Formats: sequence, structure tokens, C-alpha cells
Amino acid sequence: MSKKQYKINKYYGNIKQKHLDQLLDIEKKEFNYSKFNELSFIDYAKNKDSFYIFIEDKENNIIGYMLYYDLKYEYEIYRIYISNKYRHNKLGSKLLSYISDKNIFLEVSSKNQAQLFYEKNNFKKISIRYKYYNDKSDAIIYKKEK
Ligand SMILES: CC(C)(COP(=O)(O)OP(=O)(O)OC[C@H]1O[C@@H](n2cnc3c(N)ncnc32)[C@H](O)[C@@H]1OP(=O)(O)O)[C@@H](O)C(=O)NCCC(=O)NCCS
Repeated sequence: MSKKQYKINKYYGNIKQKHLDQLLDIEKKEFNYSKFNELSFIDYAKNKDSFYIFIEDKENNIIGYMLYYDLKYEYEIYRIYISNKYRHNKLGSKLLSYISDKNIFLEVSSKNQAQLFYEKNNFKKISIRYKYYNDKSDAIIYKKEK
């Protein structure tokens, strides 16, 4: 896919309401959402340490995003998402490449195929929180050394 088909913008802290609305629309369609998830998502997105990067198409529709904490000694990824029809074009890997100067931590369900995506991007499994999620799946903790 040529770069002209998309653009990438990085935003620092204090998510704009119009962006939060767009993210919530996608989140509700794509992920298993309850009121609790919605509130914790908003809480996360509005935190002063949270950053977000959007990938948009030519018409400014969001085709992907990464939401993460930028902490003093590490990053923590909260969400990474690429819209279905744009997957397998290395856009997800491109988002990860923006945060390569510190160690990165994240947590993902043992049922989520994204584990393979992280492993391809040199994340290593460091721990398991057994039956952590509501659906009783385990949470796998991954780390990538800078
Ligand atoms: C995970 C996700 C962000 C990957 O985005 P992407 O742009 O398709 O990823 P890339 O093209 O950079 O993938 C790089 C490599 O990772 C692996 N990979 C990516 N997605 C994969 C999947 N769903 N299953 C298995 N391997 C996968 C592949 O080896 C891929 O290389 P290939 O396309 O040459 O086979 C995307 O599939 C997604 O949004 N999934 C739904 C949301 C989600 O589960 N997010 C993670 C938890 S928050």
C-alpha cells in the first residue's frame, strides 16, 4: 500500500473530545464492550500520560490507532488497532516503530491472535495472569526491550 493512501498523526495527552468520540465508535464495534470497559477506556485516554497515534485515510477516516502510556522508563500499550481491510500491510508494525526508545509492556488475552503480531515484532512473553479476563481467558504479559 502506498504511503499516499494514509497519513499518521501523533497526539500528546489530553485526548480531544472529537477523537475520543471516534475511538469509542470503533471500540464499541470492534471489541467486547460493557459500560465498565467504556469508562475505563475514557479514563485511560484522558490520563495525562496517555498518548495516541492515528492513521487516517485521505478522507480523514480513522483506519488505525495506538493508545499508550509514555512513562519515565517504559511505554505501556493499551490498545493497537488496524481496521480489517487494511490489515497485513505492516501498519500495526509501523505504529510500534514510533515507540522504540524505551522498553514496552502490554497485556493481551490468550485468545487473541494479536499475540503472533507481537511476537513477530520481537515482544517476549514474560508472565501470565491466569483467568484474568471476564471470559476466563488468561492475560499474557509481553515485553519488548528497547
Ligand atoms: C493486531 C493488529 C493491530 C495487527 O495489525 P497489522 O497492520 O495487520 O499488522 P502487520 O501488518 O504489521 O503484521 C506484521 C506481522 O504480524 C503477524 N500478524 C499480524 N496480525 C496477525 C494475526 N491476526 N494473526 C497472526 N499473525 C498476525 C503476521 O506475521 C504479520 O506479517 P504478515 O502480514 O506478513 O503475515 C490487527 O490485526 C488488529 O487491529 N487486530 C484487532 C485488534 C487487536 O486485537 N489488537 C491487539 C490487542 S489490543
